[in-house]
Amino acid sequence: MRQDSLFHDLPSPSKIRQADEDRLAELKNQIRHHDYLYYVKDHPEISDGEYDRLFRELLDLELKYPDLITADSPTQRVGAPPLDELGKAPHERPMLSLDSLMDPEEVLAFDQRMKRELGTAQIDYTVEPKFDGLSVELVYDRGTFVRGATRGDGTTGEDVTRNLRTIRTLPLQLQTDTYPDHLVMRGEVYMRLSDFHALNRRMTERGDDAFANPRNAAAGSLRQLDSHITASRPLVVTCYEVMAMTGPPPSTHWDELEQLATWGLPVPTLRRRCETIDQVLAFHRETQEQRDHLPYEIDGVVVKVNRVDWQDRLGMKSRSPRWAIAFKFPPRKEITEIQDIAISVGRTGTLTPLALLRPVEVGGVTISRATLHNADEVARKDIRVGDTVRVERAGDVIPAIAERIPISGQVRPEPFLMPQHCPICGSAVAREGAYYYCTGQATCPAQLKGAIEHFASKTALNIDGLGKKTVAQLVDQELVKDLSDLYRLNQEQLLKLEGFAERSSTLLLEAIARSKASVPLERFLMGLGIRQVGQHIAKVLAREFGSLDAIMTADRDRFQNIREIGPEISESLVSYFQEQSNRRVISQLQQLGVSIMQAGSPQDQTTLPFSGKSFVFTGGLSSFSRDEAKALVERLGATVTSSVSKKTTYVVAGSEAGSKLDQAGRLGVRILNEDEFKNLVNASEKP
Ligand code: IVH
Repeated sequence: MRQDSLFHDLPSPSKIRQADEDRLAELKNQIRHHDYLYYVKDHPEISDGEYDRLFRELLDLELKYPDLITADSPTQRVGAPPLDELGKAPHERPMLSLDSLMDPEEVLAFDQRMKRELGTAQIDYTVEPKFDGLSVELVYDRGTFVRGATRGDGTTGEDVTRNLRTIRTLPLQLQTDTYPDHLVMRGEVYMRLSDFHALNRRMTERGDDAFANPRNAAAGSLRQLDSHITASRPLVVTCYEVMAMTGPPPSTHWDELEQLATWGLPVPTLRRRCETIDQVLAFHRETQEQRDHLPYEIDGVVVKVNRVDWQDRLGMKSRSPRWAIAFKFPPRKEITEIQDIAISVGRTGTLTPLALLRPVEVGGVTISRATLHNADEVARKDIRVGDTVRVERAGDVIPAIAERIPISGQVRPEPFLMPQHCPICGSAVAREGAYYYCTGQATCPAQLKGAIEHFASKTALNIDGLGKKTVAQLVDQELVKDLSDLYRLNQEQLLKLEGFAERSSTLLLEAIARSKASVPLERFLMGLGIRQVGQHIAKVLAREFGSLDAIMTADRDRFQNIREIGPEISESLVSYFQEQSNRRVISQLQQLGVSIMQAGSPQDQTTLPFSGKSFVFTGGLSSFSRDEAKALVERLGATVTSSVSKKTTYVVAGSEAGSKLDQAGRLGVRILNEDEFKNLVNASEKP
């Protein structure tokens, strides 16, 4: 056999390269498509594992052929080497701002002015949220994202291209081949509230300063010199305006948004086309009502004349277009005065300074107290009694002091200091980083009350009728000195309490007795009120360990090996279970009949009939209480959330369902009435 015939059937190196190049292009397209389904559509079609395999294959090919790495490759989203400074980026078109209005009368006047100038009796408007993030210019050449910049002074911004590439909702390559050769858009980069809170938690855990609000967090994350940092921050982007494009533009703003969506670009989902200005006012009203339930911050709605030829005719003023306005919501920031600083003691003993304020209305809610978080925060903002401050309410966040307003010539008292003794029980106060806590534990009535309320709450042992007032009486009368005493209460004792009679005391004792039966492990764990162990971590622990004994005997390393659990939580768990008094209470609870169920194996969770599905309940159901319905679907593997998003699988609408129903309609989420809900549950409970 001749030597060369051995190699006869092997492909040549150039053929191999060609095949790899083809595969690389195919992988990029597939990953792009799955990114779009996952990040923009919220509707993935492949598992995370399959996605990772595609991604790794692409990374391997790019490692083999570095010359084939292109700017639009999905691998470029992870960040690039840091820069010394952000470059300047002159905008292709000026980035204008919007005139702001707050009063419906002014909006009516705007409509009149538009009609007069256009000489028409009817105008279509497109209305959409005014996102509270930071505005960016986005440029696509032949469908590839090539440049992005912050607004800057409106003429020149900062080049943040590499950072924008890390944002998963921004396509690096447009879909379909109908896109224009050159496309310049404007959009908003922002952070969802849940991501913002989680980021702040991570930052403070690491000892970094938290961001004051989601907008600052978004701006701080986008304007990084190191795009790896941006890549680690949960930013999203929405496009709301075409600034320039080659080829024929769509004839209305509405069509423009629809067009952008077909190219795979994220556009405002909460938008509406209005034929009258009254419909515009209604959208503003409804959106304001929903504001606290939206997953991101908005500070108003933007009203745009829909027809593009009319926009062109109306033109612009020096800094803003004539054809659009920002119709803002009332501010959630107001100025008031600190009348006193009080200390509240939480159920885990943490001392929290609270500012007692001269009552003031902020965005429709009267505020008379605001948390000052901790001593470091008070020192950083230099807040003292008598100061004038700006209070802020952001999204679902409890009111906070945004800043102190210095008043010249004002004589101020000494800086605020945390007390050395607990204001409730007088025990010594200990310090842990920025946090101070009462060492009194269960001997501190404030901690004991908090611990009992927490133990009895719906998400823990769910003891009906054991509210704040009753708990306070039980502790103040020394009937309950630790959690186990709850199960030793008798009717005679309850009858001595204010507001208790034969029936109410029987009901409470029955509820307490009921709570003993078949307690899911995660609820019991959550009810113990271990620092840093909330619902989520309790679920993780139950899933990982299966039994309370296994958790009580685990060591630090065992806890830390779990992905969701870091050093602080491990420490908290170990020290909780090391404490003799805690072990004693747990064993007494069990002796008194609290029966803790073992958790199922990890597989059980994913094979349950509602695994991966999420429910939102709105309105009242006739056959179940809200908690029963919730427990029911959770048992079947579903999760229950309080607000509707694109990720919600079903919204169950009972009588007098509220705005969640509208939200579901808008997002195209499947709505079930009570009967449909029952059928679904019945069908899934059948073997
Ligand atoms: S349109 C020429 N639409 O509001 C009109 N702006 O004060 C360009 N903004 O800096 C803007 N959401 O960052 C438009 N749906 C939306 C918006 C929006 C937020 C911001 C934008 C601008 C500011 C105007």
